[in-house]
Amino acid sequence: MTCLLSVDDLVVQYHRPGAPPVRAVAGVSLRVRAGEAVGLVGESGCGKSTLARAVCGLTRPVAGRITYDGTPVRPLRMRRRDPALTGVQMVFQDPSGSLNPRRRVGTQLADGIRAAAERGEAAQGTTPEDLLRRVGLPAGAAERYPREFSDGQRQRIAIARALGARPRLLVGDEPISALDASAQLEVAMLMRSLAIESGAGLLFISHDLSVVRLICDRIAVMYLGRIVETGPVAEVWGDPRHPYTRALLAAVPRPDGSGTLPAELPGDVPDPGDPPGGCPFHPRCSRAFDRCHREEPRLIAGGVACHLYAP
Ligand SMILES: Nc1ncnc2c1ncn2[C@@H]1O[C@H](COP(=O)(O)OP(=O)(O)OP(=O)(O)O)[C@@H](O)[C@H]1O
Ligand code: SF4
Ligand SMILES: [Mg+2]
Repeated sequence: MTCLLSVDDLVVQYHRPGAPPVRAVAGVSLRVRAGEAVGLVGESGCGKSTLARAVCGLTRPVAGRITYDGTPVRPLRMRRRDPALTGVQMVFQDPSGSLNPRRRVGTQLADGIRAAAERGEAAQGTTPEDLLRRVGLPAGAAERYPREFSDGQRQRIAIARALGARPRLLVGDEPISALDASAQLEVAMLMRSLAIESGAGLLFISHDLSVVRLICDRIAVMYLGRIVETGPVAEVWGDPRHPYTRALLAAVPRPDGSGTLPAELPGDVPDPGDPPGGCPFHPRCSRAFDRCHREEPRLIAGGVACHLYAP
């Protein structure tokens, strides 16, 4: 499979007055292949949105490399117009962020189609009505305004707009968290199927691990700006290795009603501006030993960053 997006040793910082900078992304490497859906998960504040924004050229990293199809995205030209970035589309938690309330849905969908045509992508014959049909909305929706739709429908419109631009990579930052429970899985499945059937890659950020399990091929677990475990969803789900992944998965509600925040994950996420030395997870880890206090584990070839698995 072609490697569509490659992220290597990426660092993104935020500056705070009178305090050390926050390393929201602290050395992340990640791959997304064409036709593959990768789920990015982790507690609030671990850096998922920052990573997604950097991948879309909306935030400038201080170190590391991002390439699309082998073409580097140059930090100095981190703008939407960077040719390497024109095939990337993002869908946000709140569809209002990507839709203009004062313009008809059809006009906004036409913008995306035009963007694809400008890149020389074969968008022949694609119309706003086709896009609406693909996301399960009637063609008549093109004549209406975003406010006339429910949140779930608006998110479908935002997805249609992104698809019209024929992205090579679709990035969803919590695209289902603001929706009714009944719409969440449907919208997530729709994103997956539309991205994958058009040969694009999908980077899907969600708090909902049960949805990630259903729609993603691979999963990357983030903690304090680092990827601590990554692998095929079935493997990580069947045999989570990093103590943090184990704790996260143990917290996923099961059909029998079990699964609440587990005892082995005490305390809150530390301040990413002042992360613990050694393994950043050690203050919360029930399996921490000497080495964990001294040395930060690296993500080894097996896909886990934890001294328990170090050679
Ligand atoms: N504009 C900003 N200025 C300063 N700090 C920021 C800014 N945006 C995010 N941060 C900090 O960077 C860290 C990572 O934030 P980010 O939004 O990427 O996390 P997240 O994983 O997307 O969280 P959530 O699940 O709540 O969306 C957090 O500690 C956050 O407080
Ligand atoms: S390296 Fe140590 S502290 Fe970190 S997760 Fe592994 S066992 Fe726990
Ligand atoms: Mg976020």
